Amino acid sequence: MNTATSQPRRLTILGSTGSIGTNTLDVIRQMGGRDRFDIMALTGHGNVALLAEQALVTGARLAVTSDENQYIALKDMLSGSDIDVAAGSSGLHEAASLEADWVMAAIVGTAGLQPTLTAAARGADIALANKECLVSAGELFIETVRKGGGKIIPVDSEHSAIFQCLDENHRDTLERIVLTASGGPFRTFTRQQMADVSVQTARAHPNWSMGLKVSIGSASMFNKALEMIEAKHLFDLTPDQIEVIVHPQSIVHSMVGYRDGSVLAQLGVPDMRTAIGYALSYPKRAALDVDRLDFTKLARLDFEAPDLDRFPAIRLARTALERGGLQGAVLNAAEECAFEAFVEEKIGFLAMADVVEDVMDHLSGLAPATVIADVFAADAQARRRAQEVILNQGCTG
Ligand SMILES: NC(=O)c1ccc[n+]([C@@H]2O[C@H](COP(=O)([O-])OP(=O)(O)OC[C@H]3O[C@@H](n4cnc5c(N)ncnc54)[C@H](OP(=O)(O)O)[C@@H]3O)[C@@H](O)[C@H]2O)c1
Repeated sequence: MNTATSQPRRLTILGSTGSIGTNTLDVIRQMGGRDRFDIMALTGHGNVALLAEQALVTGARLAVTSDENQYIALKDMLSGSDIDVAAGSSGLHEAASLEADWVMAAIVGTAGLQPTLTAAARGADIALANKECLVSAGELFIETVRKGGGKIIPVDSEHSAIFQCLDENHRDTLERIVLTASGGPFRTFTRQQMADVSVQTARAHPNWSMGLKVSIGSASMFNKALEMIEAKHLFDLTPDQIEVIVHPQSIVHSMVGYRDGSVLAQLGVPDMRTAIGYALSYPKRAALDVDRLDFTKLARLDFEAPDLDRFPAIRLARTALERGGLQGAVLNAAEECAFEAFVEEKIGFLAMADVVEDVMDHLSGLAPATVIADVFAADAQARRRAQEVILNQGCTG
């Protein structure tokens, strides 16, 4: 770790062009920009115009598009600068391998797993937005970070909240964690109404501004399902220690309950920059220009139990937690396929859970992973099965 105050801290952002990535760059700017931070690498996929602009503004050493077809375009945009350009999975590997002390893992989906593992293995501190790393690779991911000598600092707002409320010195006093969920745009819909919703309505989150995958996941509550599994690995919890409560205002970001009945909560306006800023300045807190909570204007804070019939994702996460092993990887891969099929209008909104449940049941007998290759193999098997189920759903639906 770079401790000298005069030395800029070396950072890399995997997924800099996304919602978390652009918020991270804003936090970096607010915290001193190029005077305090040395950007080693930025990565994006399709949005190379934004990637090139970000690289020029921050003076990044390396810009990587994971889409090999975009290499020439990115190279052209950065010609005349001294910024190195790379593409594809080897480019992501190069970005993750550069000696950054702190790496923001903000690539969406399973595509983020391998580069984050690479950064973790060489000892970087991982600011973890990409929940899929823990959902799929679980203990193997934690073990990679531990062996590398870095640490995980959660960025998901719920896990950041728990991280901030958790008394690590007295773990034996912890009773439970309570993940809050907004309930998304269909919180009050009947199952019948949910059957016909469009991608456009599903992506319109009432409180948060996020990327497409996480927005649709909030509407189906699959995002919460992934977060339950993420929390299990991150905080070493048993399934019965993980609760979910619907909280439509998204002001209480999550809570920790202790054995004396106390519950500690972290509150704030729904703005990811607070969690990102905490991950970057941990264990301190940076001054950030984000809106403040005005308690006089907060009419109320509501809480309600999630409806497992309308939101089966929560039930499926619990099944995955209880079965353990590779069920997280299977759920994650099946959900990614189901999400893509919904976005491409091959299946309806409710069918996403049917696809995931079928794949989980079909692959419930997989032996636990001992090496990362097992995770990728389970992921591939789950995707194959999901595609078959989607094809059938499409035929029958
Ligand atoms: N958004 C939030 O508020 C939020 C909150 C908590 C956790 N998270 C988690 O953070 C992660 C990122 O979410 P997001 O909302 O920022 O997503 P997003 O806006 O969709 O951005 C995703 C990033 O990944 C890149 N990318 C897309 N496909 C890729 C591929 N195949 N290979 C490599 N890179 C690829 C994108 O590049 P291009 O844009 O250039 O195509 C972009 O930089 C997710 O795991 C999500 O669950 C997000």
